[in-house]
Amino acid sequence: MTRFDIITVLPELLESPLSYSIMQRAKNKGLLEVHLHSLREYATGKHRQVDDYQFGGGAGMVLKPEPIAACIGKLMSERDYDAIIYTTPDGKVLDQQTCNQLSMKGNIMVLCGHYKGVDERIREKYITMEISIGDYVLSGGELAAAVLVDAVGRLIPGVLNDETSALFDSFQDDLLAPPVYTRPAEWEGMKVPEVLLSGHEKLINEWRYEQSAARTRVRRPDLWEKNTDQP
Ligand code: ADE
Repeated sequence: MTRFDIITVLPELLESPLSYSIMQRAKNKGLLEVHLHSLREYATGKHRQVDDYQFGGGAGMVLKPEPIAACIGKLMSERDYDAIIYTTPDGKVLDQQTCNQLSMKGNIMVLCGHYKGVDERIREKYITMEISIGDYVLSGGELAAAVLVDAVGRLIPGVLNDETSALFDSFQDDLLAPPVYTRPAEWEGMKVPEVLLSGHEKLINEWRYEQSAARTRVRRPDLWEKNTDQP
C-alpha cells in the first residue's frame, strides 16, 4: 500500500484526475491512498494568507514558509515518510525508473509548488526529492503531482489486473513500446501485421522486440544509447 499526502493551495485541481480508471481501482483495492491537504487551512490571520511578495523585488508571489511547515509538521508527527517531494520545474525530470522506485515506498508526501515557488528554506529543511515532469512551466505543481501519483500508482504491485502488463510499457527496458492493433484485421485496406495473427508466441515476441528497438533507435536515440541490450 502506498499513501500519498499532497499539500496544495488548490486541492480541487487534484480531485478529479485521481478519481477514475486505474487510480480509483487502486484505491478501491486498498493499494493506494491519496490525501489532499489544503494549505490555506494551515495559514493564520484574518486573510489566511499563503503567499507573499519576494524579497529583492520581482514579479510573482512566493509561498510562505509557516503554513507549509505547520502542515508538514503535523503530517510528520502522524507517520514516517519515505520521501518528501516538491514538484518544481527545476527538479530532476521524472522517469520510469524513479516511478518504479517510488511504487515500492509506503508513505510519500508531495508539496505542490505554486506561483513563483516556495520559500527556499522549506526546500532546505524538509524536501528530500525535487521532481519536474518536463522542461516546460506549468502554472502550478498540482498537475505535476497528479502525473506523479498516476505514474507511480499504476506500478504499485497488484494495481494492474494483468500483473505483467507494466513490464511491457514504454521505458521499462529503456525501450519504447511496440505498435498495437485490435480488430478488424483489415481496416480501410490496411492490414494488421501477419505475425500477430499467427498465434506463434515466440515469433510475436521477436517481432515486438524488433519493432521496439527500431522505434527507439529512430525516435529516441538518447534512450537507445542507454540500452544495454544493443549490439
Ligand atoms: N511546476 C511548474 N512546472 C512544473 C513542471 N514542469 N514540473 C513539475 N512541477 C512544475
